[in-house]
Amino acid sequence: MRLFFNAIAALITAISLLWATPAVAADLAQGAQVFSTNCAACHAGGRNVVNAAKTLQKSDLEKYDMASLEAIKYQVQNGKNAMPAFSGRLTAEQIENVAAYVLDQAENGW
Ligand code: HEC
Repeated sequence: MRLFFNAIAALITAISLLWATPAVAADLAQGAQVFSTNCAACHAGGRNVVNAAKTLQKSDLEKYDMASLEAIKYQVQNGKNAMPAFSGRLTAEQIENVAAYVLDQAENGW
């Protein structure tokens, strides 16, 4: 009986790992890819070649109220000043992933 429960526990662990781990990793990996194709021209290494004050470093994101998934998604969708809008070019999922990637990079240092 004990063996049976151990087997069930192992199965549950395996299933939850299958569900959880690749999804998170894939999001950031896809976000990185979206970033290098669409954002790096202006934001390589988390910098900003057009407006040097508004980098993607955590301190600047916080200063300009951009340090959240929602704020970044909104700006990527709609653009702002010299930054183009990406709503017609990227899917909602790509925007979600690239926003998660930017926040992750800002958190961990570009
Ligand atoms: C043509 C150049 C250009 C491209 C391409 C571009 N951006 Fe920007 N980005 C800017 C400029 C300019 C600003 C400053 C906008 C403002 O507030 O006036 C900015 C600001 C930002 C900010 C806020 C930074 C802060 O400190 O306030 C984020 C986040 C951001 N961009 C993310 C992205 C992402 C993600 C992409 C790709 C999907 C992208 N940008 C593509 C030019 C660009």
